[in-house]
Amino acid sequence: MIEMINVYKKYPNGIVAANGIDVEIKQGEFVYVVGPSGAGKSTFIKMMYREERPTTGDILINGVNLATLKANKVPYLRRQIGVVFQDFKLLPRLNVYENVAFALEVIEESPKVIRKRVMEVLELVGLKHKARMFPTELSGGEQQRVSIARSIVNTPKLVIADEPTGNLDPETSWEIMNIFEEINARGTTIIMATHNREIVNTMRHRVIAVEGGLITRDEYGGEYGYEG
Ligand SMILES: Nc1ncnc2c1ncn2[C@@H]1O[C@H](COP(=O)(O)OP(=O)(O)O)[C@@H](O)[C@H]1O
Ligand SMILES: [Mg+2]
Repeated sequence: MIEMINVYKKYPNGIVAANGIDVEIKQGEFVYVVGPSGAGKSTFIKMMYREERPTTGDILINGVNLATLKANKVPYLRRQIGVVFQDFKLLPRLNVYENVAFALEVIEESPKVIRKRVMEVLELVGLKHKARMFPTELSGGEQQRVSIARSIVNTPKLVIADEPTGNLDPETSWEIMNIFEEINARGTTIIMATHNREIVNTMRHRVIAVEGGLITRDEYGGEYGYEG
């Protein structure tokens, strides 16, 4: 599903955040991306949804090369990838339902399909009863649930999450992880940058460690392996 071939990324300030990355990720995998701050984790995953472009190298997603993908094709790519952030990034003026429905409205789905699909994903994340509430009325964990619902409402085959439990307490983090497990169990590929050692060491999945813009470890069922 995803293949990176000799990917190198130098930012305009001269920092090299990817220094020759080769990796292959198959449909249905659950992958943790671990490593110290500044290691290049976010850059690694941002390149998968074309938030950043590699300086050199190729990134194939289902055969489409993101390195050369035309700008006018990027919105189409993004619709096939769900993205979840540490800070949720919900639209504050929209309620829960509207935040989730938004992704379907832009592709002009019929109101009937939108309603059905939004309620399905809100049910999956346990927030059907709060559909009319606004982000400021929700806890951090609930906001992250909304953001996960939004990420999957388009039924993407790939969900990318950048430290999705980074702002949440341990108990809430486990609840959020259970939702990601459920999404993965339904066949969706999950790629998640995380600093949560407890979670990585308990819910075992493939672990890709990044340091200095390089993959230093890649193990199925691996451990977190860092102190910090
Ligand atoms: N937009 C950017 N412009 C310049 N340098 C950046 C940018 N984004 C990240 N960097 C630098 O690239 C390196 C890797 O950053 P990042 O991918 O965010 O690492 P991580 O997510 O592992 O903390 C860091 O040195 C960071 O300062
Ligand atoms: Mg990061």
